[in-house]
Amino acid sequence: MYNGLLLVVALLFFSCWISCGEGSVTYDSKAILVNGQRKILISGSIHYPRSTPEMWPDLIQKAKEGGLDVIQTYVFWNGHEPEPGKYYFEDRYDLVKFIKLVQKAGLYVHLRIGPYACAEWNFGGFPVWLKYVPGISFRTNNGPFKAAMRKFTTKIVRMMKNEKLYETQGGPIILSQVENEYGPMEYEIGAPARAYTEWAAKMAVGLDTGVPWVMCKQDDAPDPVINTCNGFYCDYFSPNKAYKPKMWTEAWTGWFTEFGGPVPYRPAEDLAFSVAKFIQKGGSYINYYMFHGGTNFGRTAGGPFIATSYDYDAPLDEYGLLRQPKWGHLKDLHRAIKLCEPALVSGDSSVMPLGNYQEARVFKSRDGSCAAFLANYNQHSFAKVPFGNMHYNLPPWSISILPDCKNTVYNTARVRKDFLLFCNGFLTYHSTFLMKIGAQSAQMKMTTVGSDFSWQSYNEETAANDDHAFMTVGLVEQINITRDRTDYLWYTTDVEIDPSEGFMRGGSWPVLTVLSAGHALHVFINGQLSGTAYGSLENPRLTFSEGVYLKAGVNHIALLSIAVGLPNVGPHFETWNAGILGPVSLGGLNEGRRDLTWQKWYYKVGLKGESLSLHSLSGSSSVEWVEGLDVSERQPLTWYKTTFNAPDGDEPLALDMNTMSKGQIWINGHSVGRYWNQYKASGGCGACDYAGWFNEKKCLRNCGKASQRWYHVPRSWLYPTGNLLVIFEEWGGSPSGISLAKREVDTVCADIFEWQPTLVNWEMQSSGKVNKPLRPKAHLSCGSGQKISSIKFASFGTPGGVCGSFSQGGCHAFHSYDVFQRYCVGQQSCAVPITPEIFGGDPCPNVMKKLSVEAVCSK
Ligand code: GAL
Repeated sequence: MYNGLLLVVALLFFSCWISCGEGSVTYDSKAILVNGQRKILISGSIHYPRSTPEMWPDLIQKAKEGGLDVIQTYVFWNGHEPEPGKYYFEDRYDLVKFIKLVQKAGLYVHLRIGPYACAEWNFGGFPVWLKYVPGISFRTNNGPFKAAMRKFTTKIVRMMKNEKLYETQGGPIILSQVENEYGPMEYEIGAPARAYTEWAAKMAVGLDTGVPWVMCKQDDAPDPVINTCNGFYCDYFSPNKAYKPKMWTEAWTGWFTEFGGPVPYRPAEDLAFSVAKFIQKGGSYINYYMFHGGTNFGRTAGGPFIATSYDYDAPLDEYGLLRQPKWGHLKDLHRAIKLCEPALVSGDSSVMPLGNYQEARVFKSRDGSCAAFLANYNQHSFAKVPFGNMHYNLPPWSISILPDCKNTVYNTARVRKDFLLFCNGFLTYHSTFLMKIGAQSAQMKMTTVGSDFSWQSYNEETAANDDHAFMTVGLVEQINITRDRTDYLWYTTDVEIDPSEGFMRGGSWPVLTVLSAGHALHVFINGQLSGTAYGSLENPRLTFSEGVYLKAGVNHIALLSIAVGLPNVGPHFETWNAGILGPVSLGGLNEGRRDLTWQKWYYKVGLKGESLSLHSLSGSSSVEWVEGLDVSERQPLTWYKTTFNAPDGDEPLALDMNTMSKGQIWINGHSVGRYWNQYKASGGCGACDYAGWFNEKKCLRNCGKASQRWYHVPRSWLYPTGNLLVIFEEWGGSPSGISLAKREVDTVCADIFEWQPTLVNWEMQSSGKVNKPLRPKAHLSCGSGQKISSIKFASFGTPGGVCGSFSQGGCHAFHSYDVFQRYCVGQQSCAVPITPEIFGGDPCPNVMKKLSVEAVCSK
């Protein structure tokens, strides 16, 4: 009896500790519970090493203002343990500082420890030394791998515990992740992979963090680990157990850029639609991947061929500035979702068809809260749907959110919502919210702030056989030799050409053929660049096959093989080779084809300039540089340096590398990253309609241009004067065209109907409750420190076009410009009511009018 009572008390205590105590994080079928409270959580990925610590507070603040509750990040093992047992947690890798900043802002953290990350990050986040641990095989039931994974995961968990960063300790971390998208691998590998999954889950849970673990894209995630969805849409997804919440760990806000590829973007309307669709189908956690993508500084880009910019078309752009209207449109979405939270987390949901492609999803709870989502899945046409005792107008491919089951506060396809539903006296508790919503769009510009650089140059040496690291018969794998300490490996050999060779007497040149596992190759014959070849993300392998100029006697062949980031995804990507594995042959000789594969090859790791640390302040003064560009301009393999002063202001900075070809950039010894402007984006950049299924190939920019032209220079890397800029150019680009630019808002636009045609009038009239809709206002707001300097376009009437290319229609109020001139010019922001009177009278009565305005921002 006494024992039984003790047991009951213990059980009560235990269950309370799990679900209702202070500082607990648990879950049920509906949501994650923090301190016993179910939450709809809006999260966004910000990867700490993809920005600088000086940028972190602002990024986190902008994430918070955008309506986020959680910041999600991977932990980047190769950044933290560059050599076995030697750890690094400083500067951009100061994980604890990052998490504490998130905590200070009042947000939660979702820590994806992995330690496999993927993330277009070099080697998927694994240190390269790990590959050389005897007997290792990555991400499977392999002893050495599991030991290393356990060691690193434990180290991170301990570090978090020591700093009291778990929610159960009063910290911000409410969730963790082990592995990453292992489901597809498991499918390929089979039984050992299933054993590894079991082990990984057990290992993680055994670390006793007090907060739940997730495994994304892993249908068989063992209890209590939650399996979650990643993708452009996840509404179809259900977790593997009825008692787990429906979570979306990667809602892709855009996509990454690869060198040679166009720049993908995802319309805000479709992103918002996918999120609303997920929430209306019972989802309770959504993480934007990425909320701020940032920059692959140094040699952290994976792929291979991933660009240095990891902008991702995220709501915060690479530089940390608001991407409008995406950021604002999502902010509005989050506020609308939060208004529905009480009904979502405690209500029962029901579905009602409203038409062939339309439905309502309604959440009703016992305490009387009610939220509705009205969806139109038709990609092509508007729909008027009956719901309750009203009718609602739904644009194609859109969802309206009604937090009280009556009033639409948000529609995923209406980005310019200043005009939306503000019904006088009717929407009492929503009115403040409604007055404030409305995402303006903004166009950014890069303004040159420095181009008058005085350059000095230094020619890199083309490796000679007497300056090698080692010699061997045959060809070697590149990463094995470089251990990824450098992108560069020289393969050199000699070829004897007999004076009796036929080609000497006017035949065609012998053809040198080089097969390489990747990723890029420059061929030098007797010290002269003879040609270049490179692969792509899709196929990193390459074949060089070109006629080469050879002389009688000994010819020196020097092949510079270049890695462009290590793979980050795919079955056993750690075993993928790089470098010249052959065969290498010379065709068109008297003897026919001469195989060079198995002759003596000499190897040199890295560039001479790298061994001299020419990128650093001390190293760069160790050699004699040539003044000016005359001698060496357009020579391949040249180092350039200059100094410059930091431009005034606090706008983000970037280097315009448009006239350069391929290489790397350093500022005051910090590596900005690889540039490759010569690699033009191939692909089709057609028009892009937000409506319809999105994928990463649907909406593309930059076709025919450099995949990446601008390279982010963090402000915090600069001194006020005398900053050292060093560039290594492989391919004969011209530094005379390099300039430094600042990024700022160029123009801002509003594009608003005088009132929403069918929806407002129709809805309000049919409700019978509203006397008349209030007139909307046009809100314009420039960047901080900027003012509206002029009005580029303004028309109240029937204007056409989009922000950046508005055009006047048949109906136009002649005072359109004057009004904005008067209200806005000279102001940082302004709000103008959209009434015919203000524009000097109705320019075309009985016609539905709109206002389009574009204002120029400047300092
Ligand atoms: C996911 C992966 C992420 C990232 C993304 C593409 O599958 O989990 O780490 O690589 O794809 O950007």
